[in-house]
Amino acid sequence: MRNPVELAQRSLAADPTRTAVQARGLTRVYEVGAVQVTGVDGIDLLIPAGRLVVLKGDSGSGKSTLLSLLGGLDRPTAGELSVDGRDLRRLSEAGLTHFRRSVVGMVFQSFNLLPTLDVLENVCLPALLAGRAYPAARRRAAELLDWLGLGDRLSHLPRQLSGGEMQRTAIARALINDPALVLADEPTGNLDSGNAVKVMGLLADLNRTFQRTVIIATHSTLADPYAAMLLTLRDGRLAA
Ligand SMILES: Nc1ncnc2c1ncn2[C@@H]1O[C@H](COP(=O)(O)OP(=O)(O)OP(=O)(O)O)[C@@H](O)[C@H]1O
Ligand SMILES: [Mg+2]
Repeated sequence: MRNPVELAQRSLAADPTRTAVQARGLTRVYEVGAVQVTGVDGIDLLIPAGRLVVLKGDSGSGKSTLLSLLGGLDRPTAGELSVDGRDLRRLSEAGLTHFRRSVVGMVFQSFNLLPTLDVLENVCLPALLAGRAYPAARRRAAELLDWLGLGDRLSHLPRQLSGGEMQRTAIARALINDPALVLADEPTGNLDSGNAVKVMGLLADLNRTFQRTVIIATHSTLADPYAAMLLTLRDGRLAA
């Protein structure tokens, strides 16, 4: 395994004066036919760079909605939102696509790996989409996978992996473009307790060793000891 510090030296250290997330009155209302469903409702939030944030709340409280907005997968219906100094409301579709590829890395409960690509190809894909040359992407992907303990699984297909291995592959994919922010939506939801501990530990390591801002939405208490900020959503609003 390569020394993580060696990898970290190539990464951008978080500037503590930088703000990872700034939101004011952030709102997402879904229109389903004639019915309006509130995803998040008037959220004010300031997250300095380099924090590990744990986002809690009952099912339907708005955690995934908030992460989708922060990751530029969705647009707010009202309010202001800046992520890593970029005003997401002002970004064009092309700008938002670039933002998704280069500023954030996302990890999901269901891994979302492409079934016909092997581990190395899955991890390389976001780098290739961002315009990186294949040899450089391959090198970085192999380094990350090595760090994540998957150095001997590069040519395996997702279906040949365990859940924990799939999630570690997804973490490598989230990191390939050196994102400032890693967003994880219930990353341990499909894992047994041993793998859940391992994955939360890796996310905490990313924060500590690589100084990445990490935001984890989870029902689990496993991330609590690592949290610099613990936020709770209730009916789309941040609880005091
Ligand atoms: N695409 C959508 N269309 C309509 N309503 C939606 C959509 N996505 C989410 N919602 C609604 O927005 C609210 C917040 O949902 P969200 O998925 O953000 O909750 P959550 O906290 O992530 O829940 P869970 O813990 O179950 O994952 C819910 O009432 C949900 O039904
Ligand atoms: Mg959710």
